[in-house]
Amino acid sequence: MRIHVVTLFPELFASVLETTMLKKGQERGALAFSFRNIRDYATDKHRVTDDTPYGGGQGMVMKPEPLIAAIEATGSGADRPRRVLLCPQGALLTHARAQALAAYGALALICGRYEGIDERVRAHVDEELSIGDYVVSGGEIAALVVIDAVARFVPGVLGCAQSAGDESFGVQLLEYPQYTRPPEHRGARVPDVLLSGDHQAIAVWRRREALRRTWERRPDLLAQAELSDDDRAFLAALRSRRDR
Ligand SMILES: C[S@@+](CC[C@H](N)C(=O)[O-])C[C@H]1O[C@@H](n2cnc3c(N)ncnc32)[C@H](O)[C@@H]1O
Repeated sequence: MRIHVVTLFPELFASVLETTMLKKGQERGALAFSFRNIRDYATDKHRVTDDTPYGGGQGMVMKPEPLIAAIEATGSGADRPRRVLLCPQGALLTHARAQALAAYGALALICGRYEGIDERVRAHVDEELSIGDYVVSGGEIAALVVIDAVARFVPGVLGCAQSAGDESFGVQLLEYPQYTRPPEHRGARVPDVLLSGDHQAIAVWRRREALRRTWERRPDLLAQAELSDDDRAFLAALRSRRDR
């Protein structure tokens, strides 16, 4: 997958893309990144990319001409990437959306700054994506979140193809608790079942702990989860214990 980033601050990406999974993904040829600095598409002497808002008000708005030119420079025709504008007013990024975006051969992630973008830019993107119901100061941090979440689904990026699907939200359940050595730390013991070597019992324990955790923390997810009769019985027992 090729990911183009349209930004005023390409230097913000270097340390993240040059480490860990994202670096390995590039080394394996599964990921490639390219950057379009919006300032390079400004045509005036001072390469201005923002201006005051019509109608007054605080802050600056990103001008349409250099931003649209930078977006178009990411490719056209068969090479046109899926254009994604990072925006707090967009659809919320979810596990499912990240997985769907990974199926595109190329993405262009468009990063806003200041008070945001001129409204006319929206007609030049395919979708708008928000990383949560809060505002960060620029689209670059949001783009890094999208890059990381999407890259996990691109074949060849994670060591084990299974991992991305197994995590919290993969099956609309939060992940079960994880432990590693030592078996006891300051009196807190690893559950015996995990030390038992009984893979069947471990699978049952993990499934139930995932159900318990989701029920306690994100009961809204259970409505969309695929549940077996055993799962339903376990959840019913949890509810009746609570109601006693
Ligand atoms: C300070 S914000 C502008 C917010 C804008 N005035 C508004 O209220 O919608 C500047 C840029 O940061 C990015 N941004 C901020 N919060 C975001 C979020 N929750 N998700 C995605 N991008 C975000 C967007 O690219 C946005 O154009």
